[in-house]
Amino acid sequence: MGIIRSSVLSNSHVTTPSPLLDAGTLKKGLKKFGSKVYAFETIDSTNNCAKALASCWAREGTLVLAEQQTAGKGRLGRSWQANPYENLTFSIILRPTLSSEALNLLPLYAAVGLAEAIEKETGLSVECKWPNDLLIHGKKVAGILLEGSLKENQIDHVVLGIGLNVNQTTFSEELAERATSLKLQAGREFDRVQILRSILRILESHYALITKKGLQSLLPLWMARTTMLNREISVTRDGTIISGVVRGLSPDGALILESEGTEKTLFAGDVTIL
Ligand code: BTN
Repeated sequence: MGIIRSSVLSNSHVTTPSPLLDAGTLKKGLKKFGSKVYAFETIDSTNNCAKALASCWAREGTLVLAEQQTAGKGRLGRSWQANPYENLTFSIILRPTLSSEALNLLPLYAAVGLAEAIEKETGLSVECKWPNDLLIHGKKVAGILLEGSLKENQIDHVVLGIGLNVNQTTFSEELAERATSLKLQAGREFDRVQILRSILRILESHYALITKKGLQSLLPLWMARTTMLNREISVTRDGTIISGVVRGLSPDGALILESEGTEKTLFAGDVTIL
């Protein structure tokens, strides 16, 4: 149950002290989520590392975190950019006993837990944007990337990757309009260890709930946090754009869109709220 500090790139001679990696308090009081921690100064992607660990039988709740990712991954083949020493980029290994269909609902579980933890620690109001984003005042503060591995239509393991902008105050020109951070929104710095501990605790308690009552039990919590309902949106998927009005979520986590007089059920895509 120790924190393993590693640097996987031979040229990553980091001299800056890292409060996130040095914090002995990270694991205190944590149960399953965070009971085993692999902490890196620099890595390609915490999701890639967690996937490799999961296929080598790493246990559920194993946490991989990094100050800096050289190839941080976002959804739909995008990259995830985050300044080192200012943010949280981490992945958790889950081994839920669920069928493959549950993969569409797991991001909603993660979004609700993450939103609750952010609110608890900062007092800021957090919105859920389907399928995997968290927004504050309409700007993206966190993203979730779930990568699952199946065995005979059952989930073998899932890697839940989270990128949360904490104390970063400047973003690239491309992101500046759409991205924000906790510090930008609250006007003060946050202790990343405290926030991470809170996220792990809340995700773990919701995980116990979905294990007992099913993933659908979290749908009302997600619905209560979205401002997408009855809003006009456009969804891009594989080069096709569908526009319509959001009418809700299906029990399996798909977005229900009223478009050109018919109801469409979307399982993935990139949403723009119009
Ligand atoms: C998105 O919004 O497109 C999802 C972003 C997910 C980023 C996190 S950062 C930690 C983990 N490792 C990765 O390579 N990606 C996820």
